[in-house]
This record gives sequence, C-alpha cells and structure tokens, in this order.
Amino acid sequence: MSSKLIAPSILAADFANLQRDIEMVNQSEADWFHIDIMDGVFVPNISFGMPVLQAISKHAKKTIDVHLMIVDPDRYIKTFANLGSNILTVHYEACTHLHRTLQAIKTEGMQAGVALNPHTNINVLEDIINDIDLVCLMSVNPGFGGQSFIENTYNKIQQLKALINRKGASTRIEIDGGVTDKNAKLLVDSGADVLVAGSYVFKSTNQLDTIKGLKAIANS
Ligand code: DX5
Ligand code: ZN
Repeated sequence: MSSKLIAPSILAADFANLQRDIEMVNQSEADWFHIDIMDGVFVPNISFGMPVLQAISKHAKKTIDVHLMIVDPDRYIKTFANLGSNILTVHYEACTHLHRTLQAIKTEGMQAGVALNPHTNINVLEDIINDIDLVCLMSVNPGFGGQSFIENTYNKIQQLKALINRKGASTRIEIDGGVTDKNAKLLVDSGADVLVAGSYVFKSTNQLDTIKGLKAIANS
C-alpha cells in the first residue's frame, strides 16, 4: 500500500508569522504545502495572491500544491509555474475547456489537478480522468477554512476510486475541507490518497504532533 499524504493548508496559518509556520511544515512529517488562492468571484472570499505565494515558495522545502478557486484560471497558468507550483489544481466548475487547461498546466511542467465542488457529480470526469494527476474532492463548500465536513464525501471517494480503477488511471484522490483525526481513517479506507488539513493543524497547540498523529492515522 502506498503511503498516504498530509497537506497542511496555509490558509489557516498565522500570516504575521508565515515564515515560522512554513518552517514548522518543513520540519514536520507533512508531505505537501496546500495553497488556497481565492478571487472573490468563483468563491465568496479573497485569500492571497502572487506575492504571498512567492514568499512561501522561497522557504518551502516540500511539494507546493496550489488550489485555484478562481474564474478563468488559464490566464495565470504560466505565472503559477514560475512561482514554484508543483501541482496546479483548477475547479471543474470554472473551466469551459478543461482538457485544454490540463494540457496547458502539464506543458508548464506541473502536475494537473481538478477540484470538484460538493454538488458536482463524479460522472463529469468520465471522459477526462486519464488526463488528471489529482482530483481534489471538496468536502466543504470552497471559500473558507474551519467549516464542517460533509458526510456524503465518503460515497464520492468510492465512486471516484471505482472510476479510476475502471479506466486504469493513476489519478490521486485528495480530500479538502474539515479533515480531522476523527474522519481521516474512514477517508483513506474509502480510497483517499492525500488529506488536506487547515484548522485542525494550525489551531492545535502542538502542530508537529498533530501532523504526526494525522499521518499515523492515515497510514494505520
Ligand atoms: C477551502 C479550502 C481548504 C481549506 C481547508 O476552500 O480549499 O483548503 O483551507 O481548511 P479546513 O481544514 O480548516 O477545513
Ligand atoms: Zn484547498
């Protein structure tokens, strides 16, 4: 069994102490940095943009997993590649020509991810799954950290896993929103490969221990 990955979401970090929080993730057992970019149009919130990602990239020593919650993401693919993104995830709901967008991401040397909102059916990926490196299943409505986990996510993971197997794809499944020690085991048992965790990690008192614990549960 391949190892399950943990991706702390920097959205929940302390932005006045960003370098400290990045170094904490560097030192931890976490695998990726999860970076949420929101434009106030696709989602009802604005997070941060290029200068902040540039600052993160400068210090981050692990894979940078960028989750774009923006309309018309094609405009910025090259920019995100230049800023050090290793994985670039766009929303299915924000892309009219998804196949073209994924090819453009790969042309820039990044892995291509597709995120699905909680209401979006897995079936929409039927004809594109073999072109996707990572599917990010939203287990909350995108836009904010600290929301409660949507239970239907377990069903969606199983459906997605079945699709990936049926098509012989090597796509990874990432779960984003409301992940804690309480749901981590069932998420990986359902088929998840990567767990994003924001508030659960950064609001805890011992963040290194929290990450270590979550990783142990995910790989138990
Ligand atoms: C939500 C973001 C998530 C968020 C997760 O729109 O995509 O990555 O930071 O935060 P928690 O783990 O607090 O739900
Ligand atoms: Zn995210």
